[in-house]
Amino acid sequence: MGNFQKDFLWGSASASYQIEGAALIDGKEPSIWDHYSHILGNTFKDSNGDVAIDFYNKFEEDIKLMKEMNLKAYRFSISWPRVIHKNKQVNPKGIKFYHQVIDQLIKNGIEPIITIYHWDLPQSLQDEYEGWESRKVIDDFLDYSEVLFKEYGNKVKYWVSLNEQNIFTYFGYVEKLHPPKVADYQRFLNVNHNASLANAKCISLFHTLVPKGLIGPSFAYRPTYPVSNKPQDVIAMENAQEIENFLWLDVYAKGYYPKIGLKLLENLGYHIPFEPGDKDILLNGKPDFMGLNYYQSLSYQDTNSKTKDNQKDLSNMSVQTNNTDFVTDSLYKNTKNTNLNFTDWDWEIDPIGLRIALRRITSRYNLPILISENGLGAIDKLNDDGTINDNYRIHFLKEHIKEIDKAISEGCEVIGYCTWSFQDLFSWLNGYKKRYGFIYIDRDEENEKELKRYKKDSFYWYKDVIDSNAKNI
Ligand code: BG6
Repeated sequence: MGNFQKDFLWGSASASYQIEGAALIDGKEPSIWDHYSHILGNTFKDSNGDVAIDFYNKFEEDIKLMKEMNLKAYRFSISWPRVIHKNKQVNPKGIKFYHQVIDQLIKNGIEPIITIYHWDLPQSLQDEYEGWESRKVIDDFLDYSEVLFKEYGNKVKYWVSLNEQNIFTYFGYVEKLHPPKVADYQRFLNVNHNASLANAKCISLFHTLVPKGLIGPSFAYRPTYPVSNKPQDVIAMENAQEIENFLWLDVYAKGYYPKIGLKLLENLGYHIPFEPGDKDILLNGKPDFMGLNYYQSLSYQDTNSKTKDNQKDLSNMSVQTNNTDFVTDSLYKNTKNTNLNFTDWDWEIDPIGLRIALRRITSRYNLPILISENGLGAIDKLNDDGTINDNYRIHFLKEHIKEIDKAISEGCEVIGYCTWSFQDLFSWLNGYKKRYGFIYIDRDEENEKELKRYKKDSFYWYKDVIDSNAKNI
């Protein structure tokens, strides 16, 4: 250990809808998640973020805990419908709230990292023109971004443009797990292309308005493995890599779609809806770093393989996908990796996968990397004495940090590490049952209680990691 630079950003992350609450307070208008989570059956036990963990009212208390931990960076997202109204006017109360959060972080020596979009699109834009499905969203997203750059650009250096574009488009338009709950692969590609254009334009605007800042998208990267060394499985893995990863990573870092990935999609009868000028837009919106959200690796097998035993068991998911046949089934099949252990939600536990992800990004794109999310979702138990013994989380994070250290020694430039998450928070598909934080929040799906905060064992452990710059790990 010992390869972390002195100003390494030891951080933690969150997202507005998952923590803020105050769903319709002080001029905030509904987002697609406010709307969607109120339709019965869409979320785990019909949970929602109406109150969430009430960060809106408790942010000072939470930032005090961050300070106590000596946290170096806090990544949080801005709620678009909290700052821009349906009539396109700015909401001064929303703007003020984020100034307060930023000022409080800075006062306590914590670097704010702003995520511009973490999935809470204004419902008014969904109603007006189907949200991400219309190109109109690109200009609205730019107007919103411009407001943020002008308001906060002189205080905040690090910015994330879109959070996990691959997840919100795929879950929303293929898997029917996120709003607007559609299953249509071509519509997914259309939506995704609009999001890629919005991302590139936002980055290019940022470089004009915040020349001293740094910006990148956060990608949910699940490095691909072949399930065996059978050449057919290697091709399946490479197909998955083109379509599940390069379709975003290449567009971000190179400014164009992967040639093989595009051809594979074309062979299946799908296309990217290019219009004149799009290619230049993508080429002109390159990021300063790649944001990497890492939770697991995924293994793939040849699609003609007869073995069914290895198919992944998804029955532990809290909300089930309605979609089991995927258009890419002819190119690759997701398969269980029998060499790994799994979380309570059947996610592969694979610290070396993080090192592989860092190395692959470095070798293909040569960009600095901000690990913008990594963590373990688990069921934690609050003891009678107010302690929470989450050794499993400590072990998980420790093993991942060791692999980051190795990746740095192998040539990767990693500028920071944000665990997911600082506080327990609302999980889109798992309500309040799946916990990620260093701070336990006393609530579940039914009871909001007092939302009291308790420090888990991992809180003290991460403090020590930060204080020693991971030397004692
Ligand atoms: C990422 C998201 O996909 O993973 C977060 O950026 C999310 O918003 C996190 O909460 C964990 O996912 P889940 O489903 O376990 O809550």
